Amino acid sequence: MVIRVEPLEGPMGAVVHGLDSTSPLSDEDFTIIERAMCDHVAIVAPALEENVPWLRDFGSRFGPLVPHILDQYHHPEGFEVSIIARNTGTSESRGTAKPAGAFWHSDLSYEKNPSDAIFLYSTQIPGTGGDTLAANMYLAYDGLPEKTKGRIETLTATHRWGWNTGGATPKLTKEQQDTHPDVVHRVVRVHPRTGRKILFVNPGYVMRINEVSRDESDELLEELFEHALRPDYQYRHEWGLNMLLGLDNRASIHAAVDDYDEPRRMLRMIVGCTETPGLDA
Ligand code: SIN
Repeated sequence: MVIRVEPLEGPMGAVVHGLDSTSPLSDEDFTIIERAMCDHVAIVAPALEENVPWLRDFGSRFGPLVPHILDQYHHPEGFEVSIIARNTGTSESRGTAKPAGAFWHSDLSYEKNPSDAIFLYSTQIPGTGGDTLAANMYLAYDGLPEKTKGRIETLTATHRWGWNTGGATPKLTKEQQDTHPDVVHRVVRVHPRTGRKILFVNPGYVMRINEVSRDESDELLEELFEHALRPDYQYRHEWGLNMLLGLDNRASIHAAVDDYDEPRRMLRMIVGCTETPGLDA
């Protein structure tokens, strides 16, 4: 394989050319791709032959793959892959009012150990629509007024599964709920690989800022979300068939666009947290 990384115009993203899902990934090529994820926050690899074991191995090079809370959508070949399907007329197709992920979030931020990265791979795409939006949370942090940076530096936020997901998430079973209590994370996180600061809040799962009154928290979160979702921090990913999208889940938030009626099916691998303890406040 000859891997070539082509940065995209705009706030994030790079295309990785030369990836081949029919042969093992060498250590050398992995290093190039991992570097691209760190540098560009998102990577895109077009036209990869569907190969679930390869996708699983590829994802696990970045860290241990972890199960998603919605275990009913785990792939028959293993919990490391989840199926995100809509309008497919099959039992795996989700029936929520809005598509899965159609709200701004960072996967697993509602867990004590959030996710380092996610990979999405398209096996069915609608004729039009069904894009995925992502926002660069390094840029969101960097662009905050100095006064706000100072104000949020030591604050923490409570994250809860399904908090503000507008009909895009199903009701949890009792067991799923019991194993996912609210968690607390710092509002400003330092990326362990790049050393850069990240605004680590998202509208889908963050309930409140803990150190201030409820009103102040609502006001501050509204301000932070409005700022983070500025179009100039965003990348709009248009899917092609058999495409792989990788997102550094620490340094970005993402949302599926709810604008299609045709079948859409993705496979998702979630890389767990590889940081040493101390992340939580
Ligand atoms: C997700 O939120 O992980 C899924 C995003 C998508 O389907 O575009």
